[in-house]
Amino acid sequence: MPSTCNRSVVLLLMLSVVTFSNGDNSVHIYSKLQQYVTSSTLNWLPVNHYDPSKEIVIGGFQRVPNVETNGQDSMTKERALYVCRVYHGGIWVAGSQIEGQNRCTVTSLGNFYSYERYELLENVENSARLSWLPWDKFRKIPAGAVAADTMFVARHPVSAGDEEDDGKNDGVSPSYTHYIGTLDPKDKLGTITYVKANGETGSKSEGEVLVETEPLYYDLRSVKLSHRRKRVIKNEPMILGEATITNSRDEPAKLAEAFGYSYKYFSYWGQGHAMIKALNTSVTLVNGTKLMDVAWGMEDKYNRTDIYTVEIYLEPGTAVNVTLKANYMDMEVPYTGELISHYEDGQQRSRDISGMRREETMRDITPEFSPIYFISNFSIVPTTLAPPTTRGTTGTTTSLKSSSTFTSSSTGYSKSGATSDETTPDMSIKEDEEDENLIIPPRKSDPGMQNDDGGPLSLKNKEPVAVTGFSNVLKSSITLLLTSMFVSLYRIT
Ligand SMILES: *[C@@H]1O[C@H](CO)[C@@H](O)[C@H](O)[C@H]1NC(C)=O
Ligand SMILES: *[C@@H]1O[C@H](CO)[C@@H](O)[C@H](O)[C@H]1NC(C)=O
Ligand SMILES: *[C@@H]1O[C@H](CO)[C@@H](O)[C@H](O)[C@H]1NC(C)=O
Ligand SMILES: *[C@@H]1O[C@H](CO)[C@@H](O)[C@H](O)[C@H]1NC(C)=O
Ligand SMILES: *[C@@H]1O[C@H](CO)[C@@H](O)[C@H](O)[C@H]1NC(C)=O
Repeated sequence: MPSTCNRSVVLLLMLSVVTFSNGDNSVHIYSKLQQYVTSSTLNWLPVNHYDPSKEIVIGGFQRVPNVETNGQDSMTKERALYVCRVYHGGIWVAGSQIEGQNRCTVTSLGNFYSYERYELLENVENSARLSWLPWDKFRKIPAGAVAADTMFVARHPVSAGDEEDDGKNDGVSPSYTHYIGTLDPKDKLGTITYVKANGETGSKSEGEVLVETEPLYYDLRSVKLSHRRKRVIKNEPMILGEATITNSRDEPAKLAEAFGYSYKYFSYWGQGHAMIKALNTSVTLVNGTKLMDVAWGMEDKYNRTDIYTVEIYLEPGTAVNVTLKANYMDMEVPYTGELISHYEDGQQRSRDISGMRREETMRDITPEFSPIYFISNFSIVPTTLAPPTTRGTTGTTTSLKSSSTFTSSSTGYSKSGATSDETTPDMSIKEDEEDENLIIPPRKSDPGMQNDDGGPLSLKNKEPVAVTGFSNVLKSSITLLLTSMFVSLYRIT
């Protein structure tokens, strides 16, 4: 208890039970539109919910002479003055709590009150950008002014003159950098009232007002989605489309089939994190991929149409059937990221956040191919190209690793007429499941192996397909490599 309280004319109320007007801990700030809006980042915290992990707004300091050193300046201790409010006379009134004391001191109608039940102004996750802006009766209430109720949180910077008036500048009694109180905009042209060190009420027509500056937009960067820890809520296998790709021309050609499909897309990054709802937020993954901008805390829900294009080289007079399969998945994926708040004045503030992203979308889009067949008689295309120079190798179908949207497979056809089971090219191997050790690098010294004879299936001039690895399947010594098929899939959004 500061000594100043004892010798003041004080009406000290020590209420053990205070009836709060409501259980609403939201903090209202005065918006540019001269309305009160709820702050996303500030909270009035009942003192019994306080713990040291909470960030409480500080409005000044009390300097206490260190008795052991006889009050030498360098040895003074500083105690923080926390912004608090009490429910008094039907309204909430702002004041201060001295660090280490369980009391909020306010002034009302010229009297000084000290309460044990009060609320502290919490800066949740230190996410609010706060400043004390100079104010006088000729200025309007600044946008972002923090309201205690009908009045605003304000303070009076203590000057040497103030201290002398109070008779407090004796180097032994505590001194204050600021007196925290309220700005009543309806009192005359606006008046800041506060309790002075000696317990008297002070009032001034100028001072400082506590203002929260809200960011213009957020930038959520370096987002790591932990797919390993995802929770699948729903997974429906789907067939997005079926088509027959036919080469009815006279020469071999690369043919493409575009599959358009629509689905209900849903995305939600969660609320929380003391972030402003609906604020424009750009999201960038840790690998640099930029996702769509979102309105923070809002569910993104719309009908989405995507196109997948399947490309394949076909000999003249041949065709292939393709089925585009996918999983329509609803899942929750934990994420972490760096949140950067951008302010009008160009300032930025950064902090780390983590959360849960829910997404309902089409995944694992994979084309499945039938064997290539002749249009004329529907018989499976036999092997006609370059005889292999290697025999007796047991091969494994592998896919190329050049990029995540590129898949390739090679197929072995038996000259002796394999059954269709054996000759079905497996185009559905997913890269993630592939063992990198299975990749066989191209062997330039063995042109027969790759059939690089400049023919229709030559690896030369096969833009835009970038081939970085290639392997063949040889099922037995009599299996010949006859057809190599390159399929490039790309997504157009
Ligand atoms: C959202 O912010 C980005 C900058 O990060 C800007 O390019 C974009 O136009 C904004 N979108 C809206 C709807 O304000
Ligand atoms: C980044 O990661 C996402 C998801 O993990 C992936 O879809 C995307 O292709 C990656 N982008 C790059 C450039 O690697
Ligand atoms: C999306 O499509 C469904 C039917 O396919 C329709 O009922 C719904 O209104 C559409 N929603 C929007 C936002 O277009
Ligand atoms: C290709 O599709 C057609 C009609 O959809 C079907 O009659 C034919 O059997 C299919 N061929 C193969 C090899 O799957
Ligand atoms: C099917 O037709 C192609 C040419 O159109 C021919 O080369 C092939 O021998 C035929 N296959 C059978 C089994 O008739």
